[in-house]
Amino acid sequence: MQQASATTILALVGKGGVGKTSLSALMVKLLSDFYPDKKILAIDADPAVGLATALGVEVDSTVDDIRKSFVQTAENGNTKAAVELLGEAKYQMFDALVDIRDNVSFLAIGRPESAGCYCKVNAYLKEVISMISDHFDYVVIDGEAGIEQVNRRVMEKVTHLILVSDASKKGLQVVQTIHQVASELVMFDKAGLIVNRMPDMSLVDRLDTGDLELLTCIPDDREMVLSDMNGASVFELPDDAPVVLGAKEALQKLGI
Ligand SMILES: Nc1ncnc2c1ncn2[C@@H]1O[C@H](COP(=O)(O)OP(=O)(O)O)[C@@H](O)[C@H]1O
Ligand SMILES: [Mg+2]
Repeated sequence: MQQASATTILALVGKGGVGKTSLSALMVKLLSDFYPDKKILAIDADPAVGLATALGVEVDSTVDDIRKSFVQTAENGNTKAAVELLGEAKYQMFDALVDIRDNVSFLAIGRPESAGCYCKVNAYLKEVISMISDHFDYVVIDGEAGIEQVNRRVMEKVTHLILVSDASKKGLQVVQTIHQVASELVMFDKAGLIVNRMPDMSLVDRLDTGDLELLTCIPDDREMVLSDMNGASVFELPDDAPVVLGAKEALQKLGI
C-alpha cells in the first residue's frame, strides 16, 4: 500500500500517435479540477514535444538547457563539489517550472540537438523526477514514444503506468512489451491500458489486450479532432467530450 503522503506519479507510454500527449494533458486538467488544493506537475518527457501546446503553455527553459549549463560548469574546471552543483541544478529546475494554473506547474525535457544526447538527458531526467516530485502531490509524465525511457529506468519512480494504444495489433504489442520490461525494471504499483481512437466501439470485445487491465476504451472523438484543428488546449474541450470522459474513467479505475 502506498503511503498517503507519497507522490502519485503517472506515466503515459506507448507507440507514437496513439494519444499519450492528449491524455496526459487531460489527466493534468482533471486532477487540477478534482483536487484544487493539491500540487500537480506536468512533465513533457517526449523530445518530440507537444504537451506544452496541449496545455496551452509557452516554454522558455527546459531540462536539457539546465543539463547543458550544468555540464559546462563542470567542464570549465569549476571546483565546486558535484553535490553543490546538483543543488544548484535543482534551483534552476524550479526556475524552469512554468505555472499553468494555481495548482499546476509544467516542465519540459527539451530537444537535445544531437541524437547521441538523448541517453544523457534521460539520465538527467531520471534525477530530476526524483528530485522534484517530492514537492508535488501528483506528477503526470508524457513519455517518449516506445520503450527507451522504461529501459533506461527513467520511469523508476512511477507509481501508475498508463499504457496507451490504438486498436492496432502493433500498438497493443508495443504496450505488452513495455509492460513486460517495466515489470522487470520498474516498481510501479498499478498498470492499466487505455485503448484510444477506437474506430468502432462495438468491436471492444475483440481487442487482444493480453493480461493488461483495460481501463477504458475511447472512441475517435470529433471534439478532439476539432480541438486539434484549432490548435486549442485541452482546457477548452467540453466536459462531456468522449475523450474527457475516457480519461476520467481511467483515473477512477486506477483509484486516483
Ligand atoms: N480520442 C481521440 N479522437 C480523435 N483524435 C484524437 C484522439 N486522441 C488523440 N487524438 C489526436 O491524435 C493525434 C495524436 O495524438 P497525441 O496525443 O499527439 O499522440 P502521442 O502523444 O501518443 O503521439 C493528435 O492529433 C490528437 O489530437
Ligand atoms: Mg506525444
